[in-house]
This record gives sequence, C-alpha cells and structure tokens, in this order.
Amino acid sequence: MSDLKRGLSEAVAAAFAAAGLPAELGRVTPSDRPDLADFQCNGALPAAKVARRDPREIAAEVVAHLASDPRLGSVETAGLGFINIRVSAEALAQRAAEIAADPRLGAGVVETPRKVLVDYGGPNVAKPMHVGHLRSSIIGESVKRIYRFRGDEVVGDAHFGDWGYQMGLLIGAVMDEHPDIGEQVEALNAGGPAADDVETAEALFEKVGLADLDRLYPEAAARGKADADYRDRARKLTAALQDRTPGYFLLWRHFAKVTRVALERDFHALGVDFDLWKGESDVEDLIEPMVAELDAKGLLVDDQGARIVRVARQGDKRELPPLLVVSSEGSAMYGTTDLATILDRKESFGPDHVLYVVDQRQADHFEIVFRAAYLAGYAVEGALEHVGFGTMNGTDGKPFKTREGGVLKLNDMIVMTRDKARERLHEAGLGAELDPAAFEDTAHRVAVAALKFADLQNFRGTSYVFDLDRFSSFEGKTGPYLLYQAVRIKSVLRKAADEGAAGGEIVVSEAAERDLVLLLDAFDQALADAYDKKAPNFVAEHAYKLAQAFSKFYAACPILSASPELKASRLALAQTTLRQLEAALDLLGIEAPERM
Ligand code: ARG
Repeated sequence: MSDLKRGLSEAVAAAFAAAGLPAELGRVTPSDRPDLADFQCNGALPAAKVARRDPREIAAEVVAHLASDPRLGSVETAGLGFINIRVSAEALAQRAAEIAADPRLGAGVVETPRKVLVDYGGPNVAKPMHVGHLRSSIIGESVKRIYRFRGDEVVGDAHFGDWGYQMGLLIGAVMDEHPDIGEQVEALNAGGPAADDVETAEALFEKVGLADLDRLYPEAAARGKADADYRDRARKLTAALQDRTPGYFLLWRHFAKVTRVALERDFHALGVDFDLWKGESDVEDLIEPMVAELDAKGLLVDDQGARIVRVARQGDKRELPPLLVVSSEGSAMYGTTDLATILDRKESFGPDHVLYVVDQRQADHFEIVFRAAYLAGYAVEGALEHVGFGTMNGTDGKPFKTREGGVLKLNDMIVMTRDKARERLHEAGLGAELDPAAFEDTAHRVAVAALKFADLQNFRGTSYVFDLDRFSSFEGKTGPYLLYQAVRIKSVLRKAADEGAAGGEIVVSEAAERDLVLLLDAFDQALADAYDKKAPNFVAEHAYKLAQAFSKFYAACPILSASPELKASRLALAQTTLRQLEAALDLLGIEAPERM
C-alpha cells in the first residue's frame, strides 16, 4: 500500500522512461495550485535540458502516455511544460477505503528499523526547571513517539542531572540549616557508632522536603557566586559526594528521591513519560576506568591541574574548547558524565542512533562530547545527534520568566494554563453539561493541548513568544481548536450510532470530500518529514490542515440528513478522519476528551 503521491510518481516515471527520458524526473508533488490540480510534475523542464527538446512537447508526450491511466481524472500540460494531475474519484475513494481499513491510518514504516535512544527532559535535582526543560520535554516526547510509530525500537531517557556542583551546594545548605542532620551526616562519614544507623538518618532527612530544596538552592547558588569560601566548600562537598562519602551520599539520595517523585508527577500531568530515568550519577562507576582508558589511548592531556581531551579539528571555523574530563578538584564534569553515559548506553542498549533533544544553547557542549566519543571509539561518527531548539520567550523577547521574574516551575505552568482553559471553556459555552470531574479533565486536556501545540507547531529551531491568550483560544491554529474539531466529530458519530447509522462504502464526489481524502492521504509524507528532520511541526501542521478540511467538509456535506448511501460514506470519512486526527495528536502527546 502506498500513498497517492508515490503511486502517481511511479506512473509518471514510467511515462518519462517510455519517452526515453530519465525516470527519476517523473516525480510528482502536491500541487501549488489546488484549484487547478491535486498533484503536479515539473520534470519536463529539466528533461528538456537533458534531451535538448522543447519542454512543452515533452510534457505533451508524457500526458498522452498517461491519458489512459484509470487513476487519473485529468492530466494536462500547463505553462512552460508543467504537468497537472487530478486524481479520479474512484482512485480517491479506493485510497480512502484503504486508509479506513488500515490500523496505521495510511502511515508507512521505515525500511530498516533501528535502535534509537532519545535523551530529553534533562531536569536536575533541586535546580528549578526552565523553559529549555519544558521545550525539551514536549519536543522530545513527540520525537520519541514519532520514531516509535515509524517502526524503530525507541527508548526515552530523562538523563536526570543529579551529580553536579548543585549537589555540593545543597548538602552544605541543608547541614547548615539543620545541625542535627549535620551531626548525623558527619557521624556517618566518620563511620562512627551511628554509621549503621541508616534508617535513623533517613527518618531525620524526611523533614527536608521539596519546598525546602526549592528555597535553599537559589540562596546557596547566589551565595556560591558571591562568596569564594562558600563556593570552595560546595566544590569539596561535591567531590566528596562523588567519592561516595557515606553521609553525603545518603543525604544526596534523599534529595534525588524527593525531586524525582515531584518531577515525575509533573511530567506525567503533561503527558511526558520516560522509559528510563537514569541519572548522571548512574555512570559514576564507569568514570574511573573510562579516564584510565582515555589516558591509555593517549587522548588525555594535563592542563593546569585538570585533565582534558582536545577535540578541535583542522578547518573548524572557530576554536572549539576541549572536553574537561577531570576538574582540578578531581571532580567529574557535565561532559564527563555525558561521555560515560555514551559508554553505558552502548553496553546496555546498543543504540544505532542517539538523539539529544536539548536547548540550542548547548550546541557546543554536544559537539565537544560527540567528538571526544568518536575519538575514543565509543560511537560511530554520526551516530550522535544534537536535536537543538530555540527558546520560548516572554513578551520582552527574553527567555520566559514568571511574573515574579523567577524561572518557571512546570507545575505552576500547568496550573496557570488550566485556569486559563477553564475560563476559555466558560467563555465559549463549552463543557456546561459535564459533571465537575469530567469538566476538570477536559480543562486539563485543553491546557496540555494549548501548551504543546503552541510549541510543536513551530519548527523546533524557531523561538516563539509565550502568549497564553492566543495558545488557549478555540479559534485559530491552536491545540484547543484541534480538540474542538475532534470532539465535534465524536459527537456526530455518537448521534449516528444512536440512530443506528454506521459507516459504509466511501464515495467521493464533492470538492470538500476530495480535499479531505487528499489530506488523509498526506499523513504518511508528514510523518516521513517529521521523522527525517526530527521536527514534529510537520505532524502538527498535518493535524491542523486535517481539522480544517474536516470543518469545511462538515459545512459543505450534510451527514446525518443525507441519503442512506451518502450518510454511510460520510460517516466512514468522519470516522477515519477522527482516527487519523487522534493518531496525529497522540504523536504530539495530546489527547482529546470525549466531550466538551
Ligand atoms: N540537565 C541538563 C541541564 O539542565 C540537561 C541534560 C541534557 N542531556 C544531556 N545528555 N546532557 O542543562
């Protein structure tokens, strides 16, 4: 089974070949002028150059060859040698029936499935998430789903930031604030009488909750910036933690646990769920042998007490800094854990490809780490890819901050958007018949759709401005608009079912029906583009166009009041549209409610 475009390309290619011209020039694309044609082929122009002939003559010859193809309603030459194609109603109906019968809604799979790891989300212990984490979560989740749907074996990993300098800052701050915890930790460190008493210590740590970490971290971070001694202590604490000093280690485990529980809850509310929740700390055991190996391979260089790998290449446009493997305090750095994680993933999963869905601002970091990995033979050149993205900005053009000027907390963001969604539903007179629990559920889905679609409709490299009023509107190119259309189809189908009507054979006669089927047919191409470019906006665009096409179809083609045959056909079209729309939304990580 293939989409219309591919089938037509084959037919036109055969016509080119029959005329003694390069077959590959017979490629068709969706028409630039939908009022004139469904598809077009521009190949006669380059073919004319090759054959030193008049392009119009070539186009005419190809058209003559195609004239008897039953799939074509019409095929004509235009202008300087363009070929315009309209698909026949029968061919459209047949393709629609194929899509309707297909559990994959007309979408193909990759030829050779690969193992792909998607590294996304990347939240940190205690450090609040910023817009980069939000975008990474939304885009990464979608990329993961798109890759999986196309047939790859895909694993998503949160790569939890739990092993850096912020850990030393927090350990110090908590011990300062709670002398009893401080004592307990020191006793454990010293291996004294309390050393066995892990349970007592853990019970004592329970009084430090997420709110405390949220409060203490920014204070400690600010103090670390201003006060060299304080910073020095935090660095030493970090190094001691990484050496697994027992008291620090136990306290750190508590931080990681409380943060992770809250983060997973917030991510889940946003429809973001990781297959793996590995932390930077998980590769700690690999670091020492890795450093030894890098050394043995002659890749490590001493640099003022630190140990680095030089990754600059001849021909680089600007000088790329080296990878800092061991700091002068002896700590593992951000890039060190990333390098060790590449090794870890190679051994545990063996990915053919790793996608790092991370803020564009980290582009250099990844280039440096990837080069070091290739040098060390930890990955095949090209197997590691940074999938960068721009920022979500405030109206001031700077990365979005809350009204109080702080970085956003995911949960606050969801709450704020849900409030807005409720307001919008009331305004539009929607959801009035729902019971309170169903209304809440609908408001939540509208909120998630608003946030995610606003992000995913842009090519990921583009920055955009956070504008909740626009994102949450039921009109325009928004998530709520898409949900509204999906719910509208559901309601038509419910009414039909109540009347005992069901879908049947699809016939395509009205222009709006043609357009709808052509869009259903374009799903596969949208997915292929999204996959190749790691860009969910192609799927978002498809979902939007499909919803619009349905809306036009619904206005032009009565369903429930039509004759029995037409009703059956249009119900089948509506049902298939809904299934494909929901499939596309699912790939964006968005779910439509049953009613609103
Ligand atoms: N935790 C990092 C940060 O907040 C993001 C992690 C991205 N993934 C990676 N493998 N480095 O910046």
